[in-house]
Amino acid sequence: MGPPVLPEELRILYGGDLRFPPPDPGRPYVIANFVSTIDGVVSFAITGKSGGGNISGFDEADRFIMGLLRASADAVIVGTGTLHATATRHLFVAEHVYPKAAALYSRYRREVLNRPAPPLTVIVSRTGRVELKRAVFHTPGVRVLLVTTREGEEFLAASGAGALASTEIRSLEGPHLAPASILELLRGEFGVSLLLHEGGPTLLGDFVAQQSVDELFLTLAPQLAGRSEEPSRPSLMAGVEFLPETAPWLEVVSVKQVRHHLYLRYSARGKRR
Ligand SMILES: NC(=O)c1ccc[n+]([C@@H]2O[C@H](COP(=O)([O-])OP(=O)(O)OC[C@H]3O[C@@H](n4cnc5c(N)ncnc54)[C@H](OP(=O)(O)O)[C@@H]3O)[C@@H](O)[C@H]2O)c1
Repeated sequence: MGPPVLPEELRILYGGDLRFPPPDPGRPYVIANFVSTIDGVVSFAITGKSGGGNISGFDEADRFIMGLLRASADAVIVGTGTLHATATRHLFVAEHVYPKAAALYSRYRREVLNRPAPPLTVIVSRTGRVELKRAVFHTPGVRVLLVTTREGEEFLAASGAGALASTEIRSLEGPHLAPASILELLRGEFGVSLLLHEGGPTLLGDFVAQQSVDELFLTLAPQLAGRSEEPSRPSLMAGVEFLPETAPWLEVVSVKQVRHHLYLRYSARGKRR
């Protein structure tokens, strides 16, 4: 097993150590992190109240884990639906989501992982219609990679993305960007070994359908959101539907509990049922 990875203070806060297996050759190890209600809703889909905070009830332990996973990752990937649902000043870095542990996260990155810079922010868009005024594109020290199609690249160029100092743009074959190509790009050109997938449901659906997610960290918030008219509130995955014969089964790695919230860690690498 070897010595623990997490420094003692983080190990106490997390309630244990946090290790990840090495990635498969040619691609990063991919962990996804979501929060859901008991009835599987990940967003209330109400303007100003569509983020994960409303789902978790702005739960402290959920935010701590989100920060810890960001602090552990080489890159954080999101689709534009998720990017645009966050506050315009949002940054996909550990201390932004849980400032109380900022010093602990930063020491863990610097002294244990030897990665002092924040994780690369990776944004996936087919169309290139990305809100470029957001803080993520204008914060010194935060590097962004926009992964898009040829058409998206042209749109971004016409929108002035070329002038953004710490943003790179890469185009891949489209219109639907294949997770395997994104992963190959991240490993080969950007040296990403551990990739944190923060959604949303559309991007996660693509990744799960292509067996490109190794683990899922899922906070189960003890509330019921319900669903009524179309378009209905999103669940964990969108745009993909399995059959009983093809649906992936996951294995529980750990279960943690604080009051009535559950913090579940699943592996998707186990054998099929
Ligand atoms: N509770 C949670 O843990 C959690 C986590 C994440 C998100 N959410 C919520 O989920 C909602 C957003 O859902 P969503 O499904 O729209 O999010 P999303 O997956 O982040 O965004 C969808 C968009 O991402 C781009 N995209 C995704 N997959 C692509 C692919 N394979 N190739 C090319 N482009 C791709 C497309 O952008 P273009 O349209 O730009 O082409 C697509 O319209 C928000 O309300 C958010 O708060 C909740």
